[in-house]
Amino acid sequence: MQRPIGPVCALYPMPATLVGAMADGRPNFLAIAHVGILNNAAPQYLTVSLKKYRHTSQAIRDTGGFSICLPRASMAVATDYVGIVSGSRVDKSRVFDVFYGARGNVPMIRECPVNMELRLHDVMDLPAHEVFVGELVATYVDEDCLRDGDKVDLEKVRPLLFDYASGWYYALGEPVAPCWRAGRDHPAYVAAKGAK
Ligand SMILES: Cc1cc2nc3c(=O)[nH]c(=O)nc-3n(C[C@H](O)[C@H](O)[C@H](O)COP(=O)(O)O)c2cc1C
Repeated sequence: MQRPIGPVCALYPMPATLVGAMADGRPNFLAIAHVGILNNAAPQYLTVSLKKYRHTSQAIRDTGGFSICLPRASMAVATDYVGIVSGSRVDKSRVFDVFYGARGNVPMIRECPVNMELRLHDVMDLPAHEVFVGELVATYVDEDCLRDGDKVDLEKVRPLLFDYASGWYYALGEPVAPCWRAGRDHPAYVAAKGAK
């Protein structure tokens, strides 16, 4: 028996990300769990959803760029810190070792195994949040987190995951089944194959 619990968003876990932008000439990062993938083909568009009106929101508008950086599970404390203090009151520019990508004004984080640099494409104005749509310009990955050339190795990245309901961070569990292959073991797939 399923019990309705109202329109509760239950799309968790989400990766806990660190979103960066230059605010008043200084790198500023905040924790963002509400990220999305809009156009998984060239050009790639990703979204970050920021509550009205974060310190970082104006920085993204002013500079036209932002980053989405993936912290390791071991970075929970620093990730949480930039998610509970505001750059409007505290200088967060020294929390991480910062580097800049192709555009020169999008701060990213050396401690993060994966960093994505985005150009601001659009802003969606929703009742409580602004959704920043960014076009992916470049992705930077630690050498030791790559496999088969330029594929990101999730097990080596060990990303930090966030669950809203429990308010806890999680790490990745075991791999379960091969994607785009496991479905071939479904009885309906097997039956359809046999019928051919
Ligand atoms: C795990 C975690 C996830 C968060 N996700 C979001 C989010 O998706 N959107 C948002 O607006 N704020 C989110 N926050 C809150 C911001 O990170 C927080 O308000 C931050 O201090 C804002 O920084 P700023 O004032 O320097 O922009 C999250 C915080 C934590 C700890």
